[in-house]
Amino acid sequence: MSVRVFIARDAGAVSVGADEVADALSVAARQRGIEIEIVRTGSYGLYWAEPMVEIATPAGRVAYGPVSPDDIGELIDAGLFDGKGHRLCLGPTQDIPWLKRQTRFTFARCGVVDPLSLADYRAHGGTRGLARAISLGVEATLAEVEASGLRGRGGAGFPTGRKWRTVAATQASRKYIVCNADEGDSGTFADRMLMEGDPFALIEGMAIAGFAVGADKGFVYLRSEYPHAAVTFEAALRAARKGGLLGDNIAGSEVTFDIELRIGAGSYVCGEETALLESLEGKRGQVRARPPLPAHKGLFGQPTVVNNVLSLATVPFILAEGAPTYADLGFGRSRGTMPIQIAGNVRYGGLFETGFGISLGELVEDIGGGTMSGRPVRAVQVGGPLGAYIPPSLFDTPFDFESFAALDGLIGHGGVVVFDDTVDMRRQARFAMEFCALESCGKCTPCRIGSTRGVELIDRLSDDLDRAETIAILEDLCHTLKYGSLCALGGFTPYPVMSALRHFPEDFDVGPKAVAAAS
Ligand SMILES: Cc1cc2nc3c(=O)[nH]c(=O)nc-3n(C[C@H](O)[C@H](O)[C@H](O)COP(=O)(O)O)c2cc1C
Ligand code: SF4
Repeated sequence: MSVRVFIARDAGAVSVGADEVADALSVAARQRGIEIEIVRTGSYGLYWAEPMVEIATPAGRVAYGPVSPDDIGELIDAGLFDGKGHRLCLGPTQDIPWLKRQTRFTFARCGVVDPLSLADYRAHGGTRGLARAISLGVEATLAEVEASGLRGRGGAGFPTGRKWRTVAATQASRKYIVCNADEGDSGTFADRMLMEGDPFALIEGMAIAGFAVGADKGFVYLRSEYPHAAVTFEAALRAARKGGLLGDNIAGSEVTFDIELRIGAGSYVCGEETALLESLEGKRGQVRARPPLPAHKGLFGQPTVVNNVLSLATVPFILAEGAPTYADLGFGRSRGTMPIQIAGNVRYGGLFETGFGISLGELVEDIGGGTMSGRPVRAVQVGGPLGAYIPPSLFDTPFDFESFAALDGLIGHGGVVVFDDTVDMRRQARFAMEFCALESCGKCTPCRIGSTRGVELIDRLSDDLDRAETIAILEDLCHTLKYGSLCALGGFTPYPVMSALRHFPEDFDVGPKAVAAAS
């Protein structure tokens, strides 16, 4: 009988050598006359342990990692194919503490299934959500998504059910579901991981959305930097059409729904939903003034649901397990789980899905294991390039939308980027302004011009001029950006800049007094 071996095939695992490990294992097994079947899965998100090799044993899968091709001979000699012990053995996969401590709702199948096998998807609970939605009907499906408390995972945290209801209630000859897979935030990779590890979950979520609002067409807008995800997702779309999950009469119902994959062109602001719609329509990716909301007049002027990958991919779980299972978990108005991505200078980087409310310190020090460099953590940027820099003194902040907003920050798409004590926070503040200047779509003046003036002001801080006065002007500029910008690119750039100044004044050659005087 052949031994089943599981090795991830997603971009994260491949980038650290998963393909070479699979090849080496296959050659070594052949040379020894051992029959093996290698199943290429998605990743569990334990990137610190990739390339990870799992062996199916009668007691379940046993994991080894990180494995290099050079380890293969030694591993086989130690009894790899029987799941025996070795210095690289992590034990039964589901008992690895880093995985066991998580609550996996959105990512339950990631790492477990063959991402392109619809049979595997169904065997692990896939399509149950869609079947239940169709049996409940439109109104009860909308009510279920509302009751779950699900809020958008793209950054703004808008209630998904409320957005769907608005589109459902808007009369039009055609409606659309647009999935935002632009994933531009620094340190984030959850969308990519999902699309490469469990793409049918996104397809099913979009089909449920289409059913609930009355749309028969969906688009996925994927960033050009994810060619690997594009290949996997295209293959998943073909398999879904073949298997009756897309097309006419999906899942044996009267529902028709299909999806087209579109690739972006490398612009951060095209992640903003209205710039994304412009880009999808073949125009320059510039932000639209609101109203009208995309829910009323979106793609090609029709009512459109725009949702992040994770928001949509979570819906099948909510429908399959019922809204209370999801809503029971969480913190305050942030319900359910958040797939948090721990990155930067950190020992155990990866995706950690857990209920809202976990403290930032637990995430960084305990789960992340502190810095990779071994030096003390000095700052953590949460929520992408527009997120605040948080010092260890605020590590008791719970991870949820409201707590971070109260700090003049955001959780964004759940990215946590760790820096050690060698970081220069003035450089980071300058980078934030420079990023805004580079990525600005140019539609509104505060962002188009203010960001360039912001870079100049931060540069002036290193001169021997009156620093307190420069800081006062910088703060005034940030105020204008925050309240005068048309979208959150300009509106949130003050978060990284002002948090760097507030929490790390020593890096600006100014004492806390100068910052306080200017504030
Ligand atoms: C500059 C900017 C970039 C954004 N980038 C993304 C992105 O890459 N992915 C995403 O889902 N949302 C992004 N958003 C948020 C979207 O505008 C929108 O709120 C989101 O796609 C709605 O989906 P959700 O409700 O499921 O979060 C961005 C917003 C701004 C202002
Ligand atoms: S804030 Fe910047 S990116 Fe947003 S609309 Fe204004 S110019 Fe465009």
